[in-house]
Amino acid sequence: MEPLHIAILGAGTVGNVLGNKWIYVGHKIAFGVKDPESERVQSLRKDLGEHVFIGSPAQALARADIVLLAVPGSVVRELIAEHAQHLDHKIIIDATNQLVKGQTEATKQWQATGALNSLSTLQAYVPHAQVYRAFNSYSWETFADPTYQGVQADLFYCGPEGEKQAIVEQLISEIGLNPVKLGDLDQIEVVDNILRLWATIALFQDKGRGNIALKVLTR
Ligand SMILES: NC(=O)c1ccc[n+]([C@@H]2O[C@H](COP(=O)([O-])OP(=O)(O)OC[C@H]3O[C@@H](n4cnc5c(N)ncnc54)[C@H](OP(=O)(O)O)[C@@H]3O)[C@@H](O)[C@H]2O)c1
Repeated sequence: MEPLHIAILGAGTVGNVLGNKWIYVGHKIAFGVKDPESERVQSLRKDLGEHVFIGSPAQALARADIVLLAVPGSVVRELIAEHAQHLDHKIIIDATNQLVKGQTEATKQWQATGALNSLSTLQAYVPHAQVYRAFNSYSWETFADPTYQGVQADLFYCGPEGEKQAIVEQLISEIGLNPVKLGDLDQIEVVDNILRLWATIALFQDKGRGNIALKVLTR
């Protein structure tokens, strides 16, 4: 299998968990971070080894055909606007949510008044990118360990049909999740409603961030 070249913008919890699993299966990962010289990044570099690239978002994007957005929702617009030229025509997987970190969990209610996703920003700045909405509806604990009493959790996602879809499904499977496509991007609110459902059970009913994931039963 040819390795995929993936830029991960944001080397926080989500970027790290997904990036590490993709590194493990042999993909070439380039992390794009805010400050490549920060202490946190130095320690990440030590953990990952010299073969994993960590640099500025522009440097990471120059090395990849696929991009995972894993930054706080509040910086998505600025980041996309700044790097639009290097993001357009790529496959973009948007894992970001327009939420303040920890606020939903702490207050046990939704603070988001508008959309959770950044689709309108992506469509405005990178109209030729192939955008997929995935990895936004569970917590990182599920990405780290996606098996529940022997059952593989489903990951609900949406985005365009075609060969790029197969790549996105491969990346979801490599995390250990079963991909379930809910449709094209017109179904993005349905994907985001999975997050609302997940949070209602996991966070608002105190079942635990890592203890809840969903599975479609069929017969
Ligand atoms: N946490 C979860 O379980 C979870 C699950 C699904 C989806 N999400 C979504 O995924 C996104 C990331 O969540 P997270 O929990 O991984 O957040 P996090 O741990 O706070 O990590 C965010 C990362 O983005 C970096 N960053 C901030 N501004 C940046 C910029 N302009 N350029 C490059 N990197 C930048 C931060 O760097 P600094 O530390 O240097 O500021 C940090 O490393 C959020 O939108 C969140 O809603 C989170």
